[in-house]
Amino acid sequence: MAKLWGWWTRHKLQILEDYLQAFATATKSVEERIYLDLFAGWSENISRETDEQILGSVHRALRATPPFTRLCLFEVEGKAQRIEAAIHKAYPGRKGIAVYPGDCNIQVSRALVDLRRVAWAPTFAFIDQFDSEVHWSTLEKIANFRLRGPKAEMWILFATGQYPRGLNIHGDELNSTYGDTLTRMLGTEEWINIAEARRRGILDPGRRTRRMGQSDALALGARPRLRRLTCVHHEEHQRQRYLRHDLHDGSSRRREDHESPIRHGAFTA
Ligand SMILES: C[S@@+](CC[C@H](N)C(=O)[O-])C[C@H]1O[C@@H](n2cnc3c(N)ncnc32)[C@H](O)[C@@H]1O
Repeated sequence: MAKLWGWWTRHKLQILEDYLQAFATATKSVEERIYLDLFAGWSENISRETDEQILGSVHRALRATPPFTRLCLFEVEGKAQRIEAAIHKAYPGRKGIAVYPGDCNIQVSRALVDLRRVAWAPTFAFIDQFDSEVHWSTLEKIANFRLRGPKAEMWILFATGQYPRGLNIHGDELNSTYGDTLTRMLGTEEWINIAEARRRGILDPGRRTRRMGQSDALALGARPRLRRLTCVHHEEHQRQRYLRHDLHDGSSRRREDHESPIRHGAFTA
């Protein structure tokens, strides 16, 4: 069954497509490039507003030229098989596509072993989680994957709007089950002090964070740790907020190459 999405999803995926094209262009001098899609999604996606088809992230990656030569797609059982069938139908004979059904946090290790012979290749990971499904240890594995040269790049969706509700931030006490999920994603409990202080009204987020909403303060609390993995760029677009990881330590020129389609798109840095 097709999944219905709002306009912002189409917008997000267009920006992803532009970025992936820029990534492919910037890496055209080498023969291999890797795309990891940790949350590959549905085989069919439809716009809620127009009933038109929306191409999902995997299709967007498959359109880049020069092509991604290795694509590793992760999705839960059932949906993984459906997206695999749809991709093979849409791109018959296309090589280098591997689907890993199940939890991406477990399967990522398998995929990275399968890729070890090309661990030198430029690598991009799209981490389009619904809420806080990814684990910090998974981000570390991807960050440590490349043997030489710039590190892998990751685009991670932080669904910051969900955190206050999930945490029950306005209730009597924080929801510890949801809190455990956040801790697994952020790899630390440092966020708890921020959340508790905000909940009790002890911490005034200040004008900047108030403008962005208190849920963003939680995400920004993660920034120093993300920075230790790599350098972080915070991009904002309507309801979607990304912490963009430049996991390469590359030159400013290369950064500009990668950033230009976003700058000219709908993101405001
Ligand atoms: C926001 S959707 C991804 C949309 C996709 N990137 C696209 O462009 O169409 C999130 C997806 O993650 C999948 N998912 C949730 N938890 C997962 C996990 N632990 N491992 C792999 N996939 C997971 C869900 O089934 C869902 O299809």
